[in-house]
Amino acid sequence: MTTPAEPVLDQLGGQIFEQLDAATHDRSSGLHTPVLGTADGDLRIMVLRHVDPDRRCLRFHTDIRSPKVSQIERERSVGLLFYDRKAKLQLRCRGVARIEQEGAKAEEGWRGSDNFARRCYLAPQPPSSIADAPTSNLPPDVEGRRPDDARVEEGRRNFAVLLVRLDEIDWFHLDQNGHRRARLRWNEDGQVESCWIAP
Ligand SMILES: Cc1cc2nc3c(=O)[nH]c(=O)nc-3n(C[C@H](O)[C@H](O)[C@H](O)COP(=O)(O)O)c2cc1C
Repeated sequence: MTTPAEPVLDQLGGQIFEQLDAATHDRSSGLHTPVLGTADGDLRIMVLRHVDPDRRCLRFHTDIRSPKVSQIERERSVGLLFYDRKAKLQLRCRGVARIEQEGAKAEEGWRGSDNFARRCYLAPQPPSSIADAPTSNLPPDVEGRRPDDARVEEGRRNFAVLLVRLDEIDWFHLDQNGHRRARLRWNEDGQVESCWIAP
């Protein structure tokens, strides 16, 4: 039996952002759907849409009317929890979030989504509204259907990107021969300070 190579501390940050970037295109990856935690203690799953390794910035898409948006506008500190069972990897991240409805990133997010995904933003009621009966919260004309470009464009006003700059990552690799764990923290100058920690 061969012993797996030990991870190299200086290479971990680069590897993590490569893995996150790959997960944006891989719906089967556990890293595709992290849990976002807000400062009010609430948690929810979101789809990771885009990764900018140079800025340590992760992009998510959301309805501007959803409760998490107003919460983030009140308190910008967020947590992100990733678990990839196949890769035996847990990432516990802390970061600072912001919401953008206009500008290049929001446009890229909107233009890069297909009409099935964009259809959600036609929802008549804000997400988390109380309903009288079970509901998809989709207008009847788009339920079970892919709307055309003109129809879906009406949802643009409800669409926003949620951008998270990661400032800390707790990397945990499960291994039956002995787990490995490291902490990466970026200071205000953008320099990373990394160390091994006990799993
Ligand atoms: C697999 C999965 C993926 C989801 N992806 C997103 C997403 O990308 N964006 C989003 O706003 N909500 C997403 N949701 C719904 C959220 O988890 C949440 O229920 C919704 O956004 C309302 O959250 P809030 O009340 O905290 O604003 C997803 C849910 C699941 C189960």
